[in-house]
Amino acid sequence: MKLLVTGINGFVAGSILAHARKNWEVHGVDITETAGLPSDIRAHQLDLTDPVKLAELFDQIKPDAVIHTAAIANIDVCENNQDLAWKVNVEITKSLAELCQKNDTKMIVCSTDTVFDGIKGDYLETDASNGVNYYAKTKIEAEKIVLGASSKNIVARLSLVMGLPVLGKGNSFLADMIEKLKKGETVKFPANEIRTPVDVVTLGSALAELAGSSYGGIIHLSGSTKINRYQMAILIAEQLGLNPELIEGTDSNALAGRAPRPNDASMKNDLAVKLLKTPMRTLAEGLDLTLNYKLEE
Ligand SMILES: NC(=O)c1ccc[n+]([C@@H]2O[C@H](COP(=O)([O-])OP(=O)(O)OC[C@H]3O[C@@H](n4cnc5c(N)ncnc54)[C@H](OP(=O)(O)O)[C@@H]3O)[C@@H](O)[C@H]2O)c1
Repeated sequence: MKLLVTGINGFVAGSILAHARKNWEVHGVDITETAGLPSDIRAHQLDLTDPVKLAELFDQIKPDAVIHTAAIANIDVCENNQDLAWKVNVEITKSLAELCQKNDTKMIVCSTDTVFDGIKGDYLETDASNGVNYYAKTKIEAEKIVLGASSKNIVARLSLVMGLPVLGKGNSFLADMIEKLKKGETVKFPANEIRTPVDVVTLGSALAELAGSSYGGIIHLSGSTKINRYQMAILIAEQLGLNPELIEGTDSNALAGRAPRPNDASMKNDLAVKLLKTPMRTLAEGLDLTLNYKLEE
């Protein structure tokens, strides 16, 4: 069975590749050249905004399932480059969903807790989305496209992803934070943003598992600890024996020139706990897992 993962140089995709290679012939694609992957993973380089080249790649691979992680995931970049954000986050998703529909291929798209407005918190899969920034707008549209294309497709809404990159570079706040704290530098985390962070190892395992499942619909992939990002950073520093006094709390919605953030975007993971063999973990368990993770040969 063949799995195609998009955005393979990214943070989340690195963990999906590591888990999926046990059960799938894994193909991956990214806009930039990929280096340092295990030799059993077939890497392709392509700007996915080209629908003709994407269709050619799809026909060449003929995947049984697709996990679509490629996106502009930076909220402020989306806010300031809205045409590009739409092209990447919505139009690529549409091209892929059409190809999957035509070929009866299951598609999973990575969405986000940011689709919620952050007023209520503890969001369930059945709660209505109502984004507060342009990134959210693109993701809400992508969700509609993927769910509309096939009842076997999955929208996986990810909480804030915490961890060290499993494969590739990965844009990891944890790696940056550890490096700065070790040098005695101050780090800032928003105290207004309440999240249910999920560790990247658990997430890769859950997404790989979902690709082989018969589930269709929305699923929240979030950790079991609800916490604001400032408190989260303090707990992580304490668990790692680093100095928590170097951590400063901010209010991300009071910073000039930044896109609005939902305050409480915590998500309930009851469905994932019920459906998946992969256990959904607490922040402390997830941190332990990511710090000690070893890639299998
Ligand atoms: N990380 C989180 O905390 C988080 C939370 C919730 C949801 N998500 C969602 O989860 C997914 C993965 O997130 P991530 O943190 O792993 O993102 P990431 O590290 O930025 O990875 C995305 C990858 O997609 C690639 N890409 C962008 N445009 C492309 C194009 N036109 N053609 C081919 N590849 C392209 C990027 O390449 P470049 O870097 O060269 O652009 C990057 O390697 C995203 O959909 C994101 O919205 C992430």
